[in-house]
Amino acid sequence: MRSVFAILLADMNKHIQLAILYKQAVADVALPLYGAANLVFGEGNPEGAVLFIGEAPGKNEDEQMRPFVGRSGKILTKWIESIGWKREGVYITNIVKRRPPDNRDPLPIEISAYAPYLKEQIEIINPKIVAPLGRFSTNYFLPQTSISRDQGKIFWWNGRIVVPIFHPAAAMRNTARMRQSEETFVKLKRVVLLYDTLVALLRDRIHTNALNVDDIFEQL
Ligand code: URA
Repeated sequence: MRSVFAILLADMNKHIQLAILYKQAVADVALPLYGAANLVFGEGNPEGAVLFIGEAPGKNEDEQMRPFVGRSGKILTKWIESIGWKREGVYITNIVKRRPPDNRDPLPIEISAYAPYLKEQIEIINPKIVAPLGRFSTNYFLPQTSISRDQGKIFWWNGRIVVPIFHPAAAMRNTARMRQSEETFVKLKRVVLLYDTLVALLRDRIHTNALNVDDIFEQL
């Protein structure tokens, strides 16, 4: 059994590693949108089971240098709290970490430029579940999927569980999507509870493409 000290040290390590990565990212002049917008690195508990990944910061996020603090953030927080979790208990970030002008969609070149920082964040946090929010983030992990068809499904990708969810802004515009997203959060809580059993069944499956594992999950 790990001692309390060892656990505290490992926890502290994640914060330190993230702080070092933040320093690198904020000073990286090669990143697109450098000088045009603030870096919104991400926040939350790196020991949390789920890592939520949005698209890019908006106006409020740029001003406050925190992810999901505007209208979309209110919805995301409501979803998290609806299943008895706390926003501070999970980690939240974006694929692109500076606000694109006029809230335009992130460009492929921006997504690929920020990707090494996102990859490193995922490695450090090592979450049980990656939950991409919306089309851009979902397609970054699962290029073959479509958010409207595949939101709420469980995928096995690179030895990790990925559960795509509608972007809160998209859910806000559509009652059915809002309801589906709320249902996905209930499912997400169950995936966390059954994580060890599910992963024990999947561990040996090496797939180059993401594998939908809902059938396996339904049998647990
Ligand atoms: N939308 C996003 O995708 N990310 C944010 O941080 C805010 C809104």
